[in-house]
Amino acid sequence: MANNLLSINDLSKKEILELIEFANNFFNDEGSFRRESLFPDKTIANVFCEPSTRTKSSFAIAAKNLGCSVIDFNIENSSVQKGESIYETIDALNLMGVDLCVLRHPESIIRELAETLPEMVFVNAGEGSISHPTQALLDLKTIIDHKDKLDDLNIVIIGDLDHSRVTSSFVEGISNFDIGSLTFCGHPEMCTKYRDPKIGRYEADMATALQDADVVMTLRIQYERFEKELNLDLETYKSEYQLSSEKLENAKGDAIIMHPGPVNYIEITEAVYDSENSVIRQQIANGVAIRMAVLSRFLGS
Ligand code: CP
Repeated sequence: MANNLLSINDLSKKEILELIEFANNFFNDEGSFRRESLFPDKTIANVFCEPSTRTKSSFAIAAKNLGCSVIDFNIENSSVQKGESIYETIDALNLMGVDLCVLRHPESIIRELAETLPEMVFVNAGEGSISHPTQALLDLKTIIDHKDKLDDLNIVIIGDLDHSRVTSSFVEGISNFDIGSLTFCGHPEMCTKYRDPKIGRYEADMATALQDADVVMTLRIQYERFEKELNLDLETYKSEYQLSSEKLENAKGDAIIMHPGPVNYIEITEAVYDSENSVIRQQIANGVAIRMAVLSRFLGS
């Protein structure tokens, strides 16, 4: 296994499945997380240069469950505000004894940082619109939990795909498996990168896209990443691309509904979020177990 987790492509199919299987060990019989002091001498730093609730908190909980010390690095109160670069910042953390840096950054800098600071282990917690590998691992685990497999499934991803690092990492991960079909759906101006995809197909009409789906992943509009004003009539958008109970009838009856969060209820109705098909809250819990598995593997290597 590589020294860092920078992209899902750093992992083989076997390593992806091993990490998912390993993550299952971190749930106890009651469904809560095991706490085992496996790495009491290790320190991780959570360096988040973009907002986060799920990823940041789940890495912190995962690390504490494994007995690590956790630095909750706050960029707003750091010397970055006095002009220090991210390289100097992480080098300083390294010199202070931090073993592993969990990094979320709006730009594509993690690979260069990992090459420049080889003593530090890096785990990518979100790289602009490029990648989010631990999200892909928890998404794949959630699908296996409900469908017992990743092969032969009809998977639909709907929403603002162009800005979605969740989509790009998921596609990297799922490409290792013999899926039934992979359909990208959403407003054509939010799916320009997926109109002629390397794998799967683009379908603008949501009812057609959802036909016989086993897995439906919905994504919010990432307003914060649009470079120009988004002239969008929300009611028209919702009528075409919001996952409602009515539209969901096109999918298989046992289709699972996923969403990486945060949910805005533009892309999905509250009724679908709360429906028995929804596994969105389980994705959040799986985030802790997957991050315990990832930290164990990469701290141990
Ligand atoms: N899914 C996800 O990355 O959520 P956060 O932005 O809350 O970490």
